[in-house]
Amino acid sequence: MEKYDRVFELAKNRGFIWPAFEIYGGASGFYDYGPLGATLKRKIEDAWRRFYCVGEGFYEIEVPTIGVEAIFEASGHVGGFADPMVTCQQCKESFRADHIVKETMEIPDGLKKEQLTAIIKEHDIRCPECKGPLGDVYDFNLMFQTWIGPGQKKKGYMRPETAQGMFVDFPRLLRFYREKLPFGVTQIGKSYRNEISPRQGVIRLREFTQAEAEVFVNPQFKNQHPNFGAVRDLALPLWDENAQLSNGPVTPMRVGEAVERGTIANQYLAYYVALTHKFLVWVGIDPARLRFRQHMRTERAHYATDCWDAEVMLEGLGWIEIVGIADRTSYDLTAHQKRSEVDLSVFIPFEKPLKVKKTVVTPDMKTIGPKFKGKAGKIMAALKAMKPEELDRPEVRLDIDGEEVVIDSSLFKHETAEVDVNGENVIPHVVEPSYGIDRILYSVLEHAYDEEIVQGEERIVLRLNRTVAPITVAVLPLLSREPLTGRAAGIAQTLKNAGYFVEYDDSGTIGKRYRRNDEAGTPFCVTVDFDTIEDGTVTVRDRDSMAQVRVPADGLAGLLSELLCTGRPLEGYGKKV
Ligand code: GAP
Repeated sequence: MEKYDRVFELAKNRGFIWPAFEIYGGASGFYDYGPLGATLKRKIEDAWRRFYCVGEGFYEIEVPTIGVEAIFEASGHVGGFADPMVTCQQCKESFRADHIVKETMEIPDGLKKEQLTAIIKEHDIRCPECKGPLGDVYDFNLMFQTWIGPGQKKKGYMRPETAQGMFVDFPRLLRFYREKLPFGVTQIGKSYRNEISPRQGVIRLREFTQAEAEVFVNPQFKNQHPNFGAVRDLALPLWDENAQLSNGPVTPMRVGEAVERGTIANQYLAYYVALTHKFLVWVGIDPARLRFRQHMRTERAHYATDCWDAEVMLEGLGWIEIVGIADRTSYDLTAHQKRSEVDLSVFIPFEKPLKVKKTVVTPDMKTIGPKFKGKAGKIMAALKAMKPEELDRPEVRLDIDGEEVVIDSSLFKHETAEVDVNGENVIPHVVEPSYGIDRILYSVLEHAYDEEIVQGEERIVLRLNRTVAPITVAVLPLLSREPLTGRAAGIAQTLKNAGYFVEYDDSGTIGKRYRRNDEAGTPFCVTVDFDTIEDGTVTVRDRDSMAQVRVPADGLAGLLSELLCTGRPLEGYGKKV
C-alpha cells in the first residue's frame, strides 16, 4: 500500500477522517471529521487564533456563508471564477481539462481554454474513463448557486472564500478600529467550490474550511511593517518566479534580504510569509518538506500583484499548496466601492496641512437657479470640478445627465486661491494570508506519521505536536479491576478538571493500549498499578521515545503543563523506569 493510502487508512480507523454520507454511497469532495479529527481540527484552528487573533491583535468576525449576487459580481467571481472543463462525447463524464492534459504531458499553469482544446486535439488525448473523444474545453464556474427565499427572484451564492465577507464589512470595521490603518480582521469558516473532479481526499473538497486574515494597510507604508524586525533574520525556503523559469532550486533566503532584493514585493507580504512558516512548523509541518513558491505572472489571481504559496511535499501527491499569501492591492475595496456606491476610502491626515492652489468658482445663482431649476445644483458641482483653463472661455459646455448645457461666462466668476488641505482619501491595500485548514490537517497527519520496528513488531505512531494532539493523556489501569480502575478513574477526573483532554482506557493488554494511543497521537500515557495504591506514584510513558518515568500522581497536572509549554523530553523528570 502507498504511504498516502496507509495514512488515510489510519485516519479512517482511528476516527480522524471519514468519507461523508457513507451509508448512501458517499459523494466525492465531501469528508467528515470523526471524534479525533474534529478535535485535531479545532486545536489547529485554536493555534491559528493564537498566532493571528492574539499575536497580531486581529479580531475575528463571522458572516453568512451565503452571499447576495452583488458581492460576487463585484468581486469578479461571477464573471471569472472558473476552471477549464472538458466533457467526453461518448460517456458524458466531465473532467478538469488541464489535469487531463497534465497526465499526458507537461504544460504551464494558466493556459486558456482555446490552447487546451488545441493540445487535446493535436495529441488526441482521450477520455480517461472510456477512451472516447473529448469535446471543446469550456469554462465551468465553481460557485454553488442558490436562490434566497421562495421563488427565483433573488440569486445567491455559497461563498467560495471567507474574504469577501470581510471586505463588505469594511466601513463598520474601519469605525471599530477608530478610523486608523493598518488593521487586520480574521475569519475561520466554511467555503464552497463545486470542484470538477475532486479525487485527492481532503486536498480538494467541495466544502472546506479556510482561516483567512485581511490586513488593511495604507499603500504608502507597505514597506514598513511595525514588527518586521521580529522576522527579518528568519531564513525561508523560497522558490521565486525566476528560479522556476530556469528550473533552479529552492533557495533559503532571509526575509529581510528577500524584500531588499525585491524577491518578495514588500515588507507586509514578506512578514505574513514568515508568520506562515512559523505557524506551519509550530503545528507540525516538517520544515524539510515545506517551501514557498511565488505565483508565476500567468497564474496569479485577477486581484493579486504578488502571491506566494506555502507548499508541502505529500507522498504520492507531490508539492501541494496549503496556504496562499497575496498582495490583493486595492482591487477588492475599489470593486465593492464601485458596485455598492459606498465610499470605502480612509481619510489619512497629513502631518502638516498642505497649501494647495485651488480654483474657487462663484456662480451667479440668482440667474442660474431660475433659469436651470432642478439642474442648478449639478451645474454648480460641475463648474467647481473644472480646471481653471477650462473656465477661461466665453462659454462653458457641461454634460448634465447626458444633456449638453451651455453656460455663459457672465454667469460665474472664478479665481485661484491658496487653501489648506489636511489629508487625503485613500483606498487601503489588502495583504491576505489564506490558510486551508483541511489541507493543513492532512499534511500534519502525514508528516507526523511514522512506522518503526520495535522488538520485532511494527509500531505505527503519529508524532503530533503535543499541543495539537487530540488526546493529551491516556490513563490506563494496568489491570481492569479494582482497586486499579477506581484509582485510575480518579486520576483521569483530576486531569480533566485541570482542563486536559483525557482518555480513560481499560480494555485489552497494556501493550495494545499503548499501540492504540501511539496511533491516535496521544503524547503521554499514565499507567496505574499496585505501586500507585501503595506509594501514590504512576508510570508516565512518552509516545515518541517510549521512555517511562515514575512520578507522583498528584503532580501530574503540573508536569503535563510544563511538558506542553516547554516541549522538553519526559526523560528529564521523575525516576527512570
Ligand atoms: N481568499 C483567497 C483564496 O481563497 P485560494 O488559494 O483559492 O485563495 C486558499 O485558497 C487556500 O484554501 C488554499 O491554499 C487551500 O489550502 C484552500 N483550498 C482552496 N480550495 C480548496 C479545496 N477545493 N479543497 C480544500 N482546500 C482548498
